[in-house]
Amino acid sequence: MPDSVQYVKDISIFSPRTSEAVELHTLNIYFIIASSAILILVIGLLIFISFKFRARQKNQAEPKQIYSNRLLEIFMVGVPFLMVSYFFYLTIKTMKDTESQVLNEKPTVVITGKQWFWDVHYPNGAVTANEIHLPVNERVLLQLKAADVIHDWWVPSFGAKMDMIPGVTNYLWLRILKPGTYVGACSEFCGRQHANMRIKVIAQTRKDYDKWLAENAKPAIISPDENIKKGELLFSKNSCGSCHSIRGTGANGKVGPDLTHIASRGTLLSGLVENNKENLTRFISNPQEVKPGVNMPRFIYAKDSIAVLVDYLSSLK
Ligand code: CUA
Repeated sequence: MPDSVQYVKDISIFSPRTSEAVELHTLNIYFIIASSAILILVIGLLIFISFKFRARQKNQAEPKQIYSNRLLEIFMVGVPFLMVSYFFYLTIKTMKDTESQVLNEKPTVVITGKQWFWDVHYPNGAVTANEIHLPVNERVLLQLKAADVIHDWWVPSFGAKMDMIPGVTNYLWLRILKPGTYVGACSEFCGRQHANMRIKVIAQTRKDYDKWLAENAKPAIISPDENIKKGELLFSKNSCGSCHSIRGTGANGKVGPDLTHIASRGTLLSGLVENNKENLTRFISNPQEVKPGVNMPRFIYAKDSIAVLVDYLSSLK
């Protein structure tokens, strides 16, 4: 089992990186402050009263009984009522402000959750998996679907979570504030590899994003190198193309991740391992050992065939 890729940066709802997440974060902070103040007040009064009115040796008589205090009662009901009303208003306002209204708008990207990877399609024909590129400083619309069971999109620093349900199309608006790499994970138990269904969002400036998008819409560039040609032939002979697409070649399967530009991605297997020849070799040699439960069968056994195949895939930039 190869070492997993370690993600540690910014995986928190306390580091909001989209305008929607900032609003949710602000509301969250208001709630934390108010509830902490109430907690401190109640515990403080409890300690104070138990100390001040504790039973003493000298005076064992029953204390004076008070049956009603109109002013105090109005205060005790009124203040919580006003606080709850105010927070209700704040919650509704934040919900309205961050709500995913979709009025016949074209999604920026269509993401489909599958066991166990993210299938990512762009309107211009670009296709990728797991590493989702998005532009910063503009509202982007994510269309979220599921192919098999329920998955759940969640990048904590982007704010809202969104379920991906078979047969249902959900949407999420985002305005990412800064370029960078943001990570998340599937947040609905979806089977054996649920924990390894990671999300990586690469937020780029418009210019970099357009460049990436244009390059990814292009078909694969197959090097004329003899070894690479051999790899392409092996790929089709072993019917890898029944499940995977490599645009521009005969491979047009829709089951597994699109491999047209696989070498341009930083990670493999939904962010589980780094994308390098060593990990690719390990996976093709024995998929179940690297990613137990994965749908990819093991059908290539010869070491030199695997090496040629790995060379071919690693050339698909
Ligand atoms: Cu997909 Cu959990």
